[in-house]
Amino acid sequence: MNRHRYAFLEPGRYARGWHLVLFSQELRVGEVRRLHYFDQDLVVYRGASGQVAALDAHCPHLGAHLASGGGRVIEDNIVCPFHGWTFDPSGRCVAIPYANKIPEQAEHALQGWPVLEKNGFIALWYATDGLPPEDYLPTILEWGPQNWGDWTFYRSRIRAKPCDIIENIVDIAHFPHVHGGCVRAWENRFGDRTVTQLSTIDQDPTASMIKPPGTLFDVEEARSDASAEANAWGDATYHGPSIMYYYTESTSAQLNFKSWWVNSHTAVNAEEVDLCSAVIVSGLDDAPLPDDFAQLYPQMAHTAFSQDVEIWKDKVYREEPVLCDGDGPITKLRRWYEQFYLPI
Ligand code: FES
Ligand SMILES: [Fe+2]
Repeated sequence: MNRHRYAFLEPGRYARGWHLVLFSQELRVGEVRRLHYFDQDLVVYRGASGQVAALDAHCPHLGAHLASGGGRVIEDNIVCPFHGWTFDPSGRCVAIPYANKIPEQAEHALQGWPVLEKNGFIALWYATDGLPPEDYLPTILEWGPQNWGDWTFYRSRIRAKPCDIIENIVDIAHFPHVHGGCVRAWENRFGDRTVTQLSTIDQDPTASMIKPPGTLFDVEEARSDASAEANAWGDATYHGPSIMYYYTESTSAQLNFKSWWVNSHTAVNAEEVDLCSAVIVSGLDDAPLPDDFAQLYPQMAHTAFSQDVEIWKDKVYREEPVLCDGDGPITKLRRWYEQFYLPI
């Protein structure tokens, strides 16, 4: 019998779609950042107009890295630090200070990457088909200085594959073991480019949980505080292959709040991913939150994410897992996820 081998397991493949690479707050006007994703060296910079551009890192002339020496931005263009060739945000060579004529091949020799800056984060479009990027990342209206503020975020790099991480969205059975929670209600919904988990999870003092190293507070104590009859539900949705938005509301006798999380994984190479967890929080009905809670909440959110990370960084990918009837729709998720690796 021929078993199905998922396209995402083929070496050298990365998911077609938007991938989060930076938060807006990490890139000031005139700043150049060097990145390495999808096993490629990249530069990302913000021009004088505020526009963000992403380009292959190495100059088509004699191969200098465009961020060497810190990088140079003039207006909305980037200038190679070696001989001054100048590239616009699309990667087109627009000036060579010592040449009378720009060689024709220089025009499109440097690859520019589609960039989207939205909701306080910067995403790159990865695709090998040259088709225009899709417009599926929703706006988070609550994000921003006039609203709930800017992201508090954490980033880490682990040895893992994206296909190990995406499965978390359908994994109903891990809550009582990893997060110390008891699942009261659960539903997965699959859309074209989305997969959603609607869940109501109660904190359960009898359930096991992972205590991530370096956590600055007592996770079990926080759970018994939180379990004082808190009613919490959440909608976690992947928009595309690697960026998950999570909206949650929690009510209890002590405190009512709502929050948005953005959790993402971006492939560095075949073996590693960068993980980000970011959060903004507000009182329900926009009531102000106590300062200590507003400070603590991003750490709690990060800890919940880190509980998963403890598993991801050590696990292997089972192509043919042994599953049981209580597991979530893992095979369905794999079929859905494979779309980002198939020709369209
Ligand atoms: S290597 Fe970039 S200008 Fe020469
Ligand atoms: Fe989890």
